[in-house]
Amino acid sequence: MKYLTIALAKGRLAKQTLALLEQTGITCEEMKDKDTRKLIFVNEELGLKFFLSKTSDVPTYVEYGAADIGVVGSDTILEEGRKILEVLDLGLGKCRMCVAGPASARELLKKNEIIRVASKYPKIAKDYFYNKKHQTVEIVKLNGSVELAPIVGLSEVIVDIVETGSTLKENGLEVLEEICPLSARVVVNEASMKMQRERITKIVKDLKQALNG
Ligand code: PRP
Repeated sequence: MKYLTIALAKGRLAKQTLALLEQTGITCEEMKDKDTRKLIFVNEELGLKFFLSKTSDVPTYVEYGAADIGVVGSDTILEEGRKILEVLDLGLGKCRMCVAGPASARELLKKNEIIRVASKYPKIAKDYFYNKKHQTVEIVKLNGSVELAPIVGLSEVIVDIVETGSTLKENGLEVLEEICPLSARVVVNEASMKMQRERITKIVKDLKQALNG
C-alpha cells in the first residue's frame, strides 16, 4: 500500500487535528511525545505518514504533492493562493480576518483616503482594499505583533486575525471592518484526489462524522 501523507501546521491546530483523527481510529503515538525533535511520523499499519511544518508552508507541500492531505487555517489558504482542493471545514480555530485600528481611523476608511495598512497577510489585505473596496492603499508587510503598527505610527490600520478581541482592546484598538470568517480546513492535492480518491474521501467522511458526533 502506498503511504498517504498528511501535513499538519505546527502548534495548537496540529494537536486538535490529531485528537479529531484519533476519534476516527487514526492514531500516531510517536507524535504525542512532547520532547521529540522528529519531523515525520509513520503509522505502518494504516499506511500513513504525518509531518509537522510551519503553518504557511502547508499549502505548498500539498500543492506539490509532498503531502496528499493538509490541515491548515483558511487565512493561510487565502494568503498563499496555492492550487489545492479545499474539501472540509473543520470549524476549529474559528476567528475573523479584520481591518482594525484606532477608532479615529474609521473616517479614513470611509473617505477612501490613501492610507497605510500593516499586515502579516499582504495578499488578503490587497485583495480586500483593491478588489472589494476599490481603495488605493499602501501595504506594509509585517511578521507578527501587527497591533504595534498603528500604535507607533507605522500605519493607520492593520489587517489581522481577531479571535477574542483582547489583543486589540488591550492596545486601544478596535475592529473597523470585517473581511471574512476563518477556520481550519482540510486541503487535498489535486492529483492525489484522483489517484487515491477512495482512501482520501474515507478519511474526510470519517472526520466529518467525528465532528458531527
Ligand atoms: C494572533 C493575531 C492577533 C491575536 C488575536 O497573533 O495576529 O495578534 O492572535 O487574538 P485575540 O483576538 O484573541 O487577542 P499571534 O498570537 O498568532 O501572534 P503574532 O502577533 O506573532 O501574529
